[in-house]
Amino acid sequence: MPPTLLVVDDEPQILQVVSGILLDEGFEVLTAPDGETALKLVADASPDLVLLDIALPGMDGLEVLRELKRLYPTLPVIIISAYGSVENAVKATRLGAYDFIEKPPHADNILLTTRNALEMARLFEENRRLRQQAAPSREIIGKSEAVRKLREQLRVVAPTNASVLITGENGTGKELVARALHFLSKRSHRPFVEVNCAAIPEDLIESELFGHEKGAFTGATSRRQGKFDQAHEGTLFLDEIGDMSLRTQAKILRILEEQRFERVGGGRPIQVEVRIVAATNKNLEEEIAKGTFREDLYHRINVIPLAVPPLRERREDIPLLTGHFLKELARENDSPPKSFTLRALEALTAFPWPGNVRELKNFVWRLAILTPDQTIDLADLPGYAAALDTPPGSLEALLLMPTFREARARFEKEFLRRKLAQCDGNVGLAAEKIGLERSHLYRKLKAYGLEVGKEGE
Ligand SMILES: Nc1ncnc2c1ncn2[C@@H]1O[C@H](COP(=O)(O)OP(=O)(O)OP(=O)(O)O)[C@@H](O)[C@H]1O
Ligand SMILES: [Mg+2]
Repeated sequence: MPPTLLVVDDEPQILQVVSGILLDEGFEVLTAPDGETALKLVADASPDLVLLDIALPGMDGLEVLRELKRLYPTLPVIIISAYGSVENAVKATRLGAYDFIEKPPHADNILLTTRNALEMARLFEENRRLRQQAAPSREIIGKSEAVRKLREQLRVVAPTNASVLITGENGTGKELVARALHFLSKRSHRPFVEVNCAAIPEDLIESELFGHEKGAFTGATSRRQGKFDQAHEGTLFLDEIGDMSLRTQAKILRILEEQRFERVGGGRPIQVEVRIVAATNKNLEEEIAKGTFREDLYHRINVIPLAVPPLRERREDIPLLTGHFLKELARENDSPPKSFTLRALEALTAFPWPGNVRELKNFVWRLAILTPDQTIDLADLPGYAAALDTPPGSLEALLLMPTFREARARFEKEFLRRKLAQCDGNVGLAAEKIGLERSHLYRKLKAYGLEVGKEGE
């Protein structure tokens, strides 16, 4: 779509000449004979640029400019002014006009200034977008006791040089914690270097960590820095450390003990000073028992243990996190954030989230993208409608029930139906098995409209 330009001038001749020049170049052109019409057109058609005459009947050009800048600060405005009115041109520039063109306007001049202004506006917009994308939130969101404690521990531990081992299930926020640790530390101006121990092939991990000299092996065409060098005086984040081979574990242990290492294929030892932050979703004590993790390395990295609890153990964080992710998405798309209804939020809060915060984030983003309305309700949650029509075979279906009362009723009915079936409809037997008074069970069965078979002894 070509850019739309609005030309404002009370002289029909000038309007015609200027629009003609711009139309010939393929721009969309709107025109207005006075300031009031111009403001209305900007509001209705949101043009990409305004060419504005100063001497207008009624509201004068400078007033229009002031109003435009107040309402649309990034809309570029080019002033068209009569020859010699330097004073006005200066005022206009102070008010935020991009540039000014003298009358009579020349085609070259108009086109050049217009293109420059559009380009500037584009760069400005792009820059704003990039700035937003480049600054992902480092904030650890949550008000649960567990998250408060984690934040407090981070504040205390971050400024020290102690090695930290972060443990937690998949998607709980271990990497977020590792980065927070770095940025709260005295090393924050030095590099944070991440190594994913699980993703690097066994035979490359040494060169990845320690670098190599030129010609150290086939394919080593130049000398290369390893992650340890890169992290000098900063933080080295060893992610998924439980997936490292025993051989690499031995090497790492030696470096941590000596704080120096050799490149692959090079004899000269290199001195480094790094802080180690490691993370894993494995239980390293179990790995030690199995013989797949070195106990001495474990003690070396586990000076300060930080455990990030699973999301299901801090459900009160779910609404906050949901709101945070909705805002984050809205910022990325430059649109107002959507919201969940209370009922939908309750369902999210009740869900067990086996993939933890990452799963919640993906889920919230997917729903916000796929739901056309600004508000996301229970019926928009996938599987909810189906859950209402079928007996709750799974916990998930139950958890989609809007209120505690409904969920409990659904559960009770299904529980009693199945228990009774197991006892061939014998109420007395079922009552005994599930620990209820027979009369009590009987009343419940009737209340739920469950068919009652033969009475027990
Ligand atoms: N408390 C939190 N506040 C805000 N965002 C969070 C929080 N916890 C996790 N996240 C976000 O959830 C996503 C997953 O977190 P992260 O990658 O840190 O988890 P992880 O434990 O390293 O996962 P994995 O075990 O799969 O590597 C990221 O986008 C992260 O920013
Ligand atoms: Mg991770």
